[in-house]
Amino acid sequence: MLSHFGHLFHSIALASAVSDSTTTSIFNLPLSQNQANFIFAINIPDGSTDLYFHMSGPTDYSWIAVGTGNEMKDSLMFVIYSKANGENITFSPRLSSGEQEPVYSSSIKVDILNGTGISDNVMTVNARCSNCTQWETGSLDLKSTSQPWIFGLGPTGSSAAMLRSNSQTANIERHSEYGIFTMDMVRATGGSGGLPTSYTNSTGSVLSKSITNDSNWPSIIHGLCLCGALILLMPAGVVLLRVAPKSVRWHWINQTLSSAIAIVGIIIGFYLSTMFTKSQNYGSAHQILGIILLLAMLAQWGMGFWHHRVYKQTKSPTRFGIIHRYFGHIIIFLAIVNGGIGLTWSSASKSVVIGYSIAVIIIGLGLVLIIGWARWISRHGQQGFTSAPVNLRGLSGDDSHDYLDQHSDILPYNPYGRL
Ligand code: HEM
Ligand code: HEM
Ligand code: HEM
Repeated sequence: MLSHFGHLFHSIALASAVSDSTTTSIFNLPLSQNQANFIFAINIPDGSTDLYFHMSGPTDYSWIAVGTGNEMKDSLMFVIYSKANGENITFSPRLSSGEQEPVYSSSIKVDILNGTGISDNVMTVNARCSNCTQWETGSLDLKSTSQPWIFGLGPTGSSAAMLRSNSQTANIERHSEYGIFTMDMVRATGGSGGLPTSYTNSTGSVLSKSITNDSNWPSIIHGLCLCGALILLMPAGVVLLRVAPKSVRWHWINQTLSSAIAIVGIIIGFYLSTMFTKSQNYGSAHQILGIILLLAMLAQWGMGFWHHRVYKQTKSPTRFGIIHRYFGHIIIFLAIVNGGIGLTWSSASKSVVIGYSIAVIIIGLGLVLIIGWARWISRHGQQGFTSAPVNLRGLSGDDSHDYLDQHSDILPYNPYGRL
């Protein structure tokens, strides 16, 4: 109990220590207009290896962070984001092993000081770290006048849902901006330890090169390839087969092309999986369902191919045909579900999720209407579905009978009804 009070007193005493601005290095980086600047400031007390630091930046970013060194690899990082209630910040010290999500490290000892929190859309941490000048994978050069540091700013609200979590191990998404700067560690050394009250001017720091804009493009391409192939093109392949031009050839060309696009998307999915802690062990629902869908899609292709081959030889339907027909619908449905899981999992913004839902509803309704309309016309014996010549482009020369007459439940005659 006593030691607890002692610790509390210690923290308050530390918090009230104000460093002289001559013993602080301040990096003050203006961001785009109408936003607060990104600020990082440090002080190291005389004869100590404690690191006092301040970091602040606009809450427009899902997280903000600073790290040691001139690259992500082996960097010791301080990451902050909003707590669940939006009124304070979660401080998460992390270690990075490369160009991927840094991992929370409980061995980094940090006392949070006064002034930490969220106000006026700015998130701030003031803290003292007692083991940040040297750690497992690196160290700070306290004698350097140009010690390299990096910063990263999380995605903004337009592309991602804002991160709000009390957990220090919360998943963070890839940055929208990052950069490298240097700090004069000699200038930052002195006094009895503390932080200044004002950070308006950059002192003892240099931005190494202009801010780099970044995005999680592999995730975007992954999502577009898979949703485009499985949710847009594959259903279109059903229309090519059943409605117009009612061609098996166009169906298989379209489904093969879509499968190739989906495979590219899945390969990117595997690459993406290496980047985030949540995906590195391949145990998530999204990845498992995605891999099952990949296998199902390959089996579906094989069944379609085999069925058609046998049909051409024997002129009679196969069991694979009917399995292929219903399995195809299941694959498309589960792909829609997995796309939704993927979006939530990668914290896509509300507008992206709404856009996805609307697109899925439009495609789904469109398909039902088109197929329904085709059935209606055929049931009512109108031109185009029962009596018009059926497109035989999918067939070799000797398949000179009405293939789709025997292969469609759009048409009155359905051979599979009897299987
Ligand atoms: C989920 C978390 C993160 C992911 C997936 C990630 C991924 C990446 C990737 C793929 C690159 C290479 C970009 C390119 O060459 O175009 C990169 C670069 C960079 N990132 Fe991150 N990053 C993450 C978090 C952070 C954090 C927290 C910081 C800052 C503390 C940071 C700072 C940088 C910097 C300065 C670079 C350029 C230097 C370098 O290539 O190492 N990143 N990051
Ligand atoms: C992964 C790729 C494929 C998918 C997702 C797929 C999907 C589908 C779907 C959903 C149907 C049912 C259409 C309906 O509801 O009316 C269907 C039917 C059919 N597919 Fe595919 N297909 C694929 C590849 C192929 C291939 C490579 C062929 C080979 C030529 C093929 C030949 C057929 C045939 C002949 C039918 C009509 C079956 C029947 O009802 O008698 N498909 N396909
Ligand atoms: C039917 C199959 C799949 C579909 C429709 C699909 C779709 C999506 C979508 C829409 C996203 C969100 C993208 C974004 O917000 O920018 C996503 C994220 C992701 N997917 Fe998939 N995916 C599938 C399969 C897979 C597979 C097989 C893997 C890896 C084994 C995978 C790994 C990932 C990862 C790691 C993310 C998260 C990226 C992040 O947090 O930024 N996906 N997926």
